[in-house]
Amino acid sequence: MTHPIRTSPSILSADYVNLERDIRALSPAGADYVHVDVMDGHFVPNITIGIPVTAAIKKVSPLPLDVHLMISRPIRYVEDFCKAGADILTVHVEADIPVNIRAALEKIRALGVKAGLSLKPDTRAEALLPYLELCDLILVMTVEPGFGGQSFMTDMMPKLRTIRGWLDEKNPGCEIEVDGGVNETTAVLCKENGANVLVAGSAWFKSKDPAAFNRALKRCD
Ligand code: DX5
Ligand code: ZN
Repeated sequence: MTHPIRTSPSILSADYVNLERDIRALSPAGADYVHVDVMDGHFVPNITIGIPVTAAIKKVSPLPLDVHLMISRPIRYVEDFCKAGADILTVHVEADIPVNIRAALEKIRALGVKAGLSLKPDTRAEALLPYLELCDLILVMTVEPGFGGQSFMTDMMPKLRTIRGWLDEKNPGCEIEVDGGVNETTAVLCKENGANVLVAGSAWFKSKDPAAFNRALKRCD
């Protein structure tokens, strides 16, 4: 099964004073989703946006919201984020005990939202195995979560390839997203190794011509 290449600019690098302007500019540049990074200062050492801001973004975004929860025990909040307008809601496999991770994924799907599961660079791919059939998307972190502007970890590519292989067997419709240090060059590696949803934060918002950057990300070399 071939998945279309999609782009998901991370508004972590947007101008928060002009957030509506920056969000409205994404669709004309060819982006497919808006990537919303939610951090709690506990699961990761940074605090970003929460439920009210996500709901406000939903009101002005013509694109689906791809919400990445970097929070501890996400089961507590998945319903709130689904109600706030998440179209894809991703939780971290490290963020709770297995029974609660499973419950979070099931709850997201029961609410009609696509369920995503993410893993940090140090987490082995095997951690995902119990949940593969419950996911619509796997998010492979290619930096340590918490901050934008870090360097892409090329050594995550074998993990990406392993996960794509498992999904082809067990859940071929499931997409793979990469997040962290993605630019025109690293995107090629991600696609070669099985990713089809590309998050880009700093590289997108630093770009002088986001439409050209978007085309460069999507191009199949
Ligand atoms: C990092 C976030 C990313 C971040 C990516 O924890 O999950 O979505 O915004 O930023 P760049 O593309 O600058 O690495
Ligand atoms: Zn993210």
